[in-house]
Amino acid sequence: IPVDSFDLVIFGATGDLARRKILPGLFRRFASGQMPEDAKLIGAARSEMDVTAYRQVVREALLEFADVESKPDDVIEGFLRHLEFVTVDATGDDGWSELRSLLRAGVVRAFYFSVAPSLFGDIAERLKTKGLADEDSRIVVEKPFGRDLKSAKALNASLATYFDESQIYRIDHYLGKETVQNLMAVRFANILFEPLWNAQFIDHVQITVAETVGVGGRGSYYDKSGAMRDMVQNHLMQLLCLIAMEPPSRFEPDAVRDEKLKVIRALDPVPPSDVVRGQYRAGKDLTGYLEDVEDPDSITESFVAMKVQISNWRWQGTPFYMRTGKRLRNRTSEIVIRFKETPHSIFGPNSGSAANEMSIRLQPNEGIDLRLTIKEPGPGGMRLVDVPLDMTFSEILGVKLKDIPDAYERLIMDVIRGNQTLFMRGDEVEAAWAWSDPIIETWENGDQQPDGYDSGSAGPESALELIHRDGRRWRELRG
Ligand code: BG6
Repeated sequence: IPVDSFDLVIFGATGDLARRKILPGLFRRFASGQMPEDAKLIGAARSEMDVTAYRQVVREALLEFADVESKPDDVIEGFLRHLEFVTVDATGDDGWSELRSLLRAGVVRAFYFSVAPSLFGDIAERLKTKGLADEDSRIVVEKPFGRDLKSAKALNASLATYFDESQIYRIDHYLGKETVQNLMAVRFANILFEPLWNAQFIDHVQITVAETVGVGGRGSYYDKSGAMRDMVQNHLMQLLCLIAMEPPSRFEPDAVRDEKLKVIRALDPVPPSDVVRGQYRAGKDLTGYLEDVEDPDSITESFVAMKVQISNWRWQGTPFYMRTGKRLRNRTSEIVIRFKETPHSIFGPNSGSAANEMSIRLQPNEGIDLRLTIKEPGPGGMRLVDVPLDMTFSEILGVKLKDIPDAYERLIMDVIRGNQTLFMRGDEVEAAWAWSDPIIETWENGDQQPDGYDSGSAGPESALELIHRDGRRWRELRG
């Protein structure tokens, strides 16, 4: 579906996120015919360069990060013609009037802040005071949205000085993932699940986001952040909300975000005994975390596992176990809903019956499977077997995995359409910090080391223990 014409200004246009995600995402939308012919993509950055040099930067980024092999050169050239570039001083006066002169009246105007959060306020102020933004303009802000409640509140306040909440698009790219949206479709477009979607029928939920990469070249950012701030407070929290929320009355921004907010506010504080943090050690041919961040004394976590309880009628007594980490065995992001056993087995205790399980695979190999118990074929009596009803999206829908839009592509197009449903509202972000701050403070005020784990493992032993002690086990990390 084509979108209205737009001018999109990307601050931080030569940075890592712009080159890896934003520009390749826009290129794919262009190549699939969704970009209006006169759409303007305006790179803005501190660097002194002209538009020809910038187009070369973008060409190289596409070669590295977008699937351009199958695209003829003229498609790439066609995309590059949409690009403009302006050198802008985010904290000074230079470049703003040049930027303003590139903007057109009567089209959607969006500004993407792909810069450090310390510049959000400066840019927002200049957009307004120098007459670049009006009441219909949109701004897109990236994580990290603060590093605790206090800084998130300050950021929200500085943006609110110049922009209305309805103009602010806070990105959590997990909300743009195909399967995450499918989670809502499965929950709310089928009658089958909702009646069972509560503590009476669900034993527990597992949310896993496992990565094989280490902190790589991002050590200096990551070491000040850690897995709790980098992944749990935002991405895993959003997944938890989508599983746990009440059905919104409509699939509309505030209806959905109100329900997510209620979940965050209903989370119990997590006692230290229910949280594990880990740090990867060196492995065969692999550096350890301490070498990666070049600090032998760092106590920052590259892994977190925790047990979370939600105090409301729907979920009282059903724990949500979450874990995420770097340098784990496989790259797997998956949500597992483990249902309760049948109240009574008419086939006897040794028949092989197992509890139903639904797993929602975010990546790789996007899909959903539902494990059911059926009779094993053959004459040997009522032997039961646990089988998957497998909905691998690429198979059942006939789409190639590489053709599923990347999260950024979808989210940027939602900004142009003016749809905030998959973006976080300011109060949601603050509530998530209010919940995670005490956990982080306990670590930062103590001197306890994170538990070590081997690169390529499933995380520290203590994370296995966290769930074993409740008589449960993590779903194996499948590649
Ligand atoms: C980012 C984190 O938000 O998400 C990274 O800062 C992490 O540390 C990344 O690697 C994971 O995203 P994805 O889409 O690859 O699962």
